[in-house]
Amino acid sequence: MSEEEEQDASTVSRRDFMKTTIVGIGGLIAASYATSAVAYVLGPALQQEAIDWIQLGSVSKIEMGVPTLFKATLKTQTGWITADEEFTVFVLTEDGQNYVVMSNVCTHLGCRIRWITEKESFFCPCHNGAFSKTGAVIGGPPPQPLVRYENKVENGNLFVKRG
Ligand code: FES
Repeated sequence: MSEEEEQDASTVSRRDFMKTTIVGIGGLIAASYATSAVAYVLGPALQQEAIDWIQLGSVSKIEMGVPTLFKATLKTQTGWITADEEFTVFVLTEDGQNYVVMSNVCTHLGCRIRWITEKESFFCPCHNGAFSKTGAVIGGPPPQPLVRYENKVENGNLFVKRG
């Protein structure tokens, strides 16, 4: 091979190298955009799944047959504003296996109800509303039973699904 032919072969080789490099860099940039797009689309959905289940605490705290108050503090995000929101529910179990999770908000005008042990019922101080321990209306103006939440137990901890 003459010196001129060797130089041509070397030039072609450099040209191929540049093509390969440019295509490789282009591929990396495209992959970067694709990853960002997938994260943008799936990220909120995955984050929402985590936020939807609220951990209340250990089921060992729940007294059999007695509604037990649980509180959790939730971080809420509206645009750029982050705020703490208190989430309070009553939890009832009769068998230690199945749980009823009820809102502590009266269905009449939204006052907070409280459990009255002596009467075995919930009482709403605003207009004398009354609910059974399973949340059914038993007196006063409330138009509907207490709101119930879907729940699950994992590793001895009770989780409630945000309504
Ligand atoms: S708000 Fe509870 S009875 Fe009216």
